[in-house]
Amino acid sequence: MSVKILRGRVLTFLDEPQGREDHGCYRYIEDGAVVISDGRIVMVGDWNQRAASHHAEGEIIDHRPHLIMAGFIDPHVHFPQMQVMGAYAGSLLEWLNTYTFVEEQKFMDEGHAGRIASAFCDTLLQYGTTTAASYCSVHPQSVDAFFSEAEKRNMLMVGGKVMMDRNAPQALLDTPQSAYDDTRAGIARWHGKGRAHYAITPRFAITSTHEQLAMAEAQEREFPHLHIHTHVSENHAEIAQAKELYPNYGDYVGIYEKFHLLGPKTLLGHCIHLSHRETEVIAETRSVAVFCPTSNLFIGSGLFDYERQHERGVRIATATDVGGGSSYSMLRTMDEGYKVMQLRGQRLTPFRSFYHLTLGNARAMSLEDRIGSLEPGMEADIVVLNSSATPQMQLRMETVESLEQELFLLQTCGDDRAVVETYVMGKPMKSALAA
Ligand code: GUN
Ligand code: ZN
Repeated sequence: MSVKILRGRVLTFLDEPQGREDHGCYRYIEDGAVVISDGRIVMVGDWNQRAASHHAEGEIIDHRPHLIMAGFIDPHVHFPQMQVMGAYAGSLLEWLNTYTFVEEQKFMDEGHAGRIASAFCDTLLQYGTTTAASYCSVHPQSVDAFFSEAEKRNMLMVGGKVMMDRNAPQALLDTPQSAYDDTRAGIARWHGKGRAHYAITPRFAITSTHEQLAMAEAQEREFPHLHIHTHVSENHAEIAQAKELYPNYGDYVGIYEKFHLLGPKTLLGHCIHLSHRETEVIAETRSVAVFCPTSNLFIGSGLFDYERQHERGVRIATATDVGGGSSYSMLRTMDEGYKVMQLRGQRLTPFRSFYHLTLGNARAMSLEDRIGSLEPGMEADIVVLNSSATPQMQLRMETVESLEQELFLLQTCGDDRAVVETYVMGKPMKSALAA
């Protein structure tokens, strides 16, 4: 039995923060210990008291004065888009057609898919992200590459073959039947293998025919425990085209609703320009609205209305959406999310931000019984953060007087440089990248 004891300042969330004065939603231990045995957390407590009994038996890794938190979770990202990040385009559909649909064709090649999947997993670890829900390309070999590379690193990943049978280059199109068959084979091959979770992934209504969405619906009925991953209401031209292609469905969300693709395991990327009715349906079905601020600003899609959705009871997650997103960093993501909300006259508190990065996103993905917090029994996916990672952060830290201020500095100025170590099931992974 391998036992590790991480020592440092431990921060973990117990619940969603209810306002700035809510200090009961998290647990903070100034001189804390996280005891890990065989990849799982067995004890979290004060170094001197709670963990004392374990001191003799384990390897001690002293991370003081750094912060130890649950690993970051990115619930919406596209691994095949690593090489289109930062592509210059005016709007979503132009960006998709000019760059993304060209790039994704390369994933027909197994070798290319493997190389990018490997780089993707390593990049997430470099940035402190231990779990992601990623789109693959239309090609089943991209799914094999994605889950093979995740498996090598023992990462808990959610992913699936993109279903798309129209409005894209011929080389990227499947058919309703081949999408169904390839998805079925992908589920059989990967779902539940190690830490892999397969997601049924119709890209968005524009690239799927009625027949394909009906196939996705049938597949959901067969495998109701799987995630469904798609996009909705990102951009005005996209919304208009979706409604044109599905004229009898009322609104964009209504399309997914009528095909019974909404529910607690459905991750809906963007959700920016929703009507009152659409918001209500998303809330009622317990679907998740995924806020992707760096992408929404970079592509110029719009300002997510966090408060309105939160007030109506919508479950909200936060994600990078790379390659539409402009950073792999979940810290940069929350910084841009904060700015989007500022522009709407809304406030995002530092504790709420860090709740989203960890327990909040775990809950949004229905994975909170395994990851997202530091509690006995949880899988030991952990990030260690240095708030003085750069000279300017170090100078600013001299004037920081509270944990809240420190978290806000990390969010505002931090990126992968602030990530000292990333553990997957208790194994140090970031330092191994450099070795
Ligand atoms: N809508 C459909 N596909 C995509 C994609 O790849 N990225 C983004 N941002 N939006 C999409
Ligand atoms: Zn996306």
